[in-house]
Amino acid sequence: MDDLKNRNIHPETLRFLGRSEKEDLLGQRGAVLWLYGLSGSGKSTIANAVERALHADGRFTAILDGDNLRAGLNANLGFSDEDRAENVRRVAETAKLLAALGVIVIVSVITPRRELRALAGRIIGGDFHEVYVRADFETCAARDPKGLYAKARDGAIKQFTGKDSGFEEPDNGCLTLDTEASSEEECASHLLEYLRVATAIGRPL
Ligand code: ADX
Repeated sequence: MDDLKNRNIHPETLRFLGRSEKEDLLGQRGAVLWLYGLSGSGKSTIANAVERALHADGRFTAILDGDNLRAGLNANLGFSDEDRAENVRRVAETAKLLAALGVIVIVSVITPRRELRALAGRIIGGDFHEVYVRADFETCAARDPKGLYAKARDGAIKQFTGKDSGFEEPDNGCLTLDTEASSEEECASHLLEYLRVATAIGRPL
């Protein structure tokens, strides 16, 4: 806060309409499900299935997808460690804004390093739910839905996650959806069940 004052920035906290008024209007509580994992692990597929199920259940949702955001808000960022950190920071700040409006936000971003997940958690706070979408590199390379693994193999993509740019598995026991062991439907219903139990989303207001 001192840092903001020194920069002559004075955020409004009390005058504007509050979070609970927005949540009451929507009849739900905001939350952020942060899905991360290798390219091709199934993040967007699960995000899509979970969003459609929540929507059908009358919940107001948003998907923040890495590729989509890199087409706009994050168009000036590449895949260096610094750019990935800035990418995650912007996505986390956006998710935080939306959750504060009562939206159930489903993030789908590789977020390859533990410190990046910790950064997102620090920004988002208590609304943050870390979800690892797991499939090993060979499986993702065999799926290769966007043809990127083939390009990376040919040297046409530098700093490719899992090849010449690192990916760290979680060591914090966060919820893991294993897309090698379970189907898309199973992973989606596992995540929906987690939401009902671990968060206020499924509870009446
Ligand atoms: S993150 O590492 O900064 O979290 P993000 O999820 O936003 O990544 O973007 C990853 C997407 O960018 C992938 O799904 C893929 O389509 C595309 N992409 C392009 N170049 C790379 C690369 N070098 N490594 C990983 N993904 C890449």
